[in-house]
This record gives sequence, C-alpha cells and structure tokens, in this order.
Amino acid sequence: MAMFPWDDKYKTNHLTIDTDHKKLVELINQLADAMQAGKGRDVCGKVLNELVNYTKTHFANEEKLMAAHGYVKTAEHKAEHAKFVQEVADFKGKFDSGALTVTSSLLNFLRDWLINHILNSDKALVQAISRK
Ligand code: FEO
Repeated sequence: MAMFPWDDKYKTNHLTIDTDHKKLVELINQLADAMQAGKGRDVCGKVLNELVNYTKTHFANEEKLMAAHGYVKTAEHKAEHAKFVQEVADFKGKFDSGALTVTSSLLNFLRDWLINHILNSDKALVQAISRK
C-alpha cells in the first residue's frame, strides 16, 4: 500500500493540473519507498531532486494559468507556492550537506501540504478559471 494513495476527491477536473498532481503524489510515494527500503542517500537524493524540479514546473504552469485568466487570488496562491518551495529547498540544502535525511515526518509534511493545497487553493483556482 502506497503511503499516499491517490483519491479522486483530489481531482480538480483540470486535466493538466490533475496529471501534474498525480505525478507529484507518485514522486512522494517513490521517496517513501526509497526511505522504507533503506536506499542510500543517492537514491533518495535523486527522487528528491525530481520532486523539487517537478514541483517548480507544476507551480509555474498553474501560475501561467492564473495570469492568463486574471485570477483574483493570484498573489495569495503564489505566496503559498513560494513558501512551500522555500521549505523544500531548505530541507534539500540540509539533505545535501548530510545534516538531515528523509523521515516519515518530512513525507507526512509533503503529503499533508499537497492535500490541503489541492483541496483548498487549487480547486478554487480551477473553479474560478472554469467560470470564465
Ligand atoms: Fe497544484 Fe497550486 O499547486
């Protein structure tokens, strides 16, 4: 059983956004699998890199949609993205320096943040741009 099973309640009904979110869920599960299998820092580091990069790409995609639609809550939504990217980058820096490793609490943070953000901010975004 994956530590973060996909659930259709996370669907925003925007094809690109949902595809991106499924990929992010998959990467968090890959990171959990690597940690649980006791994989070395190289494997965890590789998945972590992919997660960081894919997250940035996904946020940029959503932010392009916000700009294209003149989304009224763009500033708040972008601020949530920026804070998350900063937190993950801080962790990544500590991971790369050997000061931290991947833990269940990091994985829970990533999962809970993504669920909360999808259910609240991303669904609101898709609803707003679908009305136009
Ligand atoms: Fe899907 Fe706003 O991140």
